[in-house]
Amino acid sequence: MTTMTTKITFHIQNGGQLNGQARVAGDKSMSHRSIMLGSLARGVTHVTGFLEAEDALATLQAFRDMGVVIEQLGDGCVTIHGVGKSGLKAPTKPLYLGNSGTSMRLLSGLLAGQDFDCVLTGDESLSKRPMKRVTEPLAKMGAVIKTSEAGTSPLYIIGQASKLHGIDYTMPMASAQVKSCLLLAGMFAQGETTVTEPAPTRDHTERMLNGFGYHVSQQGNQASINANGQLTACDIDVPSDISSAAFFLVGASIAPNSNVLLKHVGINPTRTGVIDILRLMGANIEILNEREVGGEPVADLRVTSSQLKGIAIPEHLVPLAIDEFPILFIAAACATGETTLTGAEELRVKESDRIQVMADGLQTLGVNAKATPDGMIIQGGSMGGGVIESHGDHRIAMAFAIAGLRANAPITILDCANVNTSFPQFKAIAANLGLTLTSQEEA
Ligand code: S3P
Repeated sequence: MTTMTTKITFHIQNGGQLNGQARVAGDKSMSHRSIMLGSLARGVTHVTGFLEAEDALATLQAFRDMGVVIEQLGDGCVTIHGVGKSGLKAPTKPLYLGNSGTSMRLLSGLLAGQDFDCVLTGDESLSKRPMKRVTEPLAKMGAVIKTSEAGTSPLYIIGQASKLHGIDYTMPMASAQVKSCLLLAGMFAQGETTVTEPAPTRDHTERMLNGFGYHVSQQGNQASINANGQLTACDIDVPSDISSAAFFLVGASIAPNSNVLLKHVGINPTRTGVIDILRLMGANIEILNEREVGGEPVADLRVTSSQLKGIAIPEHLVPLAIDEFPILFIAAACATGETTLTGAEELRVKESDRIQVMADGLQTLGVNAKATPDGMIIQGGSMGGGVIESHGDHRIAMAFAIAGLRANAPITILDCANVNTSFPQFKAIAANLGLTLTSQEEA
């Protein structure tokens, strides 16, 4: 694993095309949840396709630190010896969650109702991200969690075993992390916990809980859970992450003469906003061999080059493509005409401020990109080369690497070590498909 202090710089030779097929990294959201639910289940859960990248491994390590035996058998195969709903043990040190907001937010709910206290910490980026969105509703359930005054981590959680109670909570923002946090807390709360979302967000928690035999009722935009359930171990096949596939959906769209087949990609309808947006822009994406694997829809995606056109991105698609905007902004920069994004202020509190950092990077490449409070306005056209600051954000780094396919000069991207948080094979897969990417490491 790359150490925290290793600096990685990507150098992209401009031009080229993408051809061939790939199975990209396992889905990050499902990988986290497989460890969490597998650990709390009775029996042995076998996971295949697990994302062996820093974020999901941070979750895995946290559960090992709470006494769960988890075997990593290689090649995405993980065996979890579940300890049952009440079987976690107090960790002897703070749980370090690296760059992973999903780990911290979901764990805060799951740990609020345990019979022990614990501390959750993270890296520099995670330590700046807003946690009040989870600690405030959790406090309404009776949780006791201390944050910094600014509402950031470390989170000091005082376990409230048997003292949590269900709430009926309407989220102020469309966030799967907040919804999942509260549903996990609801497994340890008296009465019913109901979460209402203002717009549909990824539903992997609900699907996987049901897969483990723990009933979550879903009605319209509400999900409800109570403590009267048990999780029973099961086998989980994690499909490829559409958020990782997205880099090649855009890469093969913008690079002339490209033709790429992406195998076994999760196409849960709460995640496919990127396909809808790219199709509205004129992309050629075929969804092939649709099937269902372990309660989640999966397909192979074929994408060939096309001349994209600028659009006004429909706001209802924003939460369904929330992690894909860095690469969608690159698509917009290569499109004819103007692309506008609104209603996406959540992008400002991701691993970096993805509106500002992408606008700055695009401007460095000579693109007319204007950040707005809740989105961006991009005039498509030509892209030059330059040196890009990724601000340690994995998806910014990978997005600008793909931009190299259409830039008219080389691109250097700084601070790329965090690509290992979600997609350690990015470099190898991108190079195999045809991107000329070299990387330079220094301690
Ligand atoms: C995630 C939810 C999303 C997403 C994140 C993963 C999840 O965050 O951006 O990468 O696994 O639940 P929000 O729920 O904050 O939108």
